Amino acid sequence: MKRVLTGTALATVLALGAGNASAVVKVGFMLPYSGTYAALGQAIENGFKLYVQEQGGKLGGQELQYFQVDDESNPSKGPDNANRLIKRDQVDVLVGTVHSGVAMALAKAANDSDTTLIIPNAGADAITGPLCSKNVFRSSFSNWQPSYAMGPVAVEKGYKTAVTITWNYAAGKEAIAGFKESFEKEGGKVVKELTLPFPQVEFQPLLTEVASIKPDAVFTFFAGGGAVKFVQDYAAAGLKDTVPLLSSGFMTDGTLKAQGESAQGLFTTLHYADGLDTPRDNAFRENYTKNFPSMQPDVYAVQGYDAAQLLAAGLEAVKGDVSKKDDMRTAMRSATIDSPRGQFTLSSAGNPVQDIYLRKVVGEQNLTQGVAIKALADPARGCKL
Ligand code: BEZ
Repeated sequence: MKRVLTGTALATVLALGAGNASAVVKVGFMLPYSGTYAALGQAIENGFKLYVQEQGGKLGGQELQYFQVDDESNPSKGPDNANRLIKRDQVDVLVGTVHSGVAMALAKAANDSDTTLIIPNAGADAITGPLCSKNVFRSSFSNWQPSYAMGPVAVEKGYKTAVTITWNYAAGKEAIAGFKESFEKEGGKVVKELTLPFPQVEFQPLLTEVASIKPDAVFTFFAGGGAVKFVQDYAAAGLKDTVPLLSSGFMTDGTLKAQGESAQGLFTTLHYADGLDTPRDNAFRENYTKNFPSMQPDVYAVQGYDAAQLLAAGLEAVKGDVSKKDDMRTAMRSATIDSPRGQFTLSSAGNPVQDIYLRKVVGEQNLTQGVAIKALADPARGCKL
């Protein structure tokens, strides 16, 4: 498959096949193609296109036409970038994004224009909480979900106190809140919450504070390029063998080649893992590796792949007629997605109800240690659908 490079806020049209404008479904990717989350955006796009390719290039009998905008993980540019796809390119379906703050702007623009939005990563709790909407779907997770699963694991390991460290934006704050909720419910105590602005990577002062507090464990949320540096710095500070480092799995997904020795043995929780060894996952991984030999099949690729599966469920129900928005959305809401991660359904708020795995880093793999919490549904607090 062909990689199309885009400049900032530059929409690139990639027509698959010869379809004319009225016979194609227009899909707008609003993803980060630059900055600390660039690799995540690329993996999502790869996964999406891989599923479409596996279907012979059509979903619901329709060819797709792709548009792209690099959102740079910059929330302040979110409204303009979203409107490039919605108003200028007039896409039928939006697929985006990675960063929770940018996703808030995208969801608002999608709601204002009644455009169907599939979120292939960003976990902002509010989007499937108080701001939930019939046109918005996730193929990923809420920020609460993977972190909530780590609380009981930490208590079971005998940890009574924890310090948390994250970027000070929605994803970080909500991930920490999810961990804190279940950790403290099981009897643990978060004794200090440390933050730094996104996407800064000056971790040293925070690591010095951890060393002086000496908690039983540290829990974090970091992802992408920032996660690579955090794990390296944590080990270099001599903390890895003295204060166990726990996290949602974003800290070690798509990052292990760069993290190397510093990540070995780390435990994380996530809705995907290496070593699932199911026929569905093995087939996905084989085809992903064949098409993208320089990339490992990671959680972001799976979420992109499943975003396309979700769209397929909607388009099949309306035989490719995207003007039948209500019927298409009803079919998407009630779909069972045969994901490489394992089958999942959507909650009424549009968020996956899914197993969360406990994983351990071994070599370049986040090897499954089993299911930490089965069929975990986001509480969707404040959603009135
Ligand atoms: C977020 O901003 O929601 C996010 C970014 C990267 C990984 C996971 C969540």
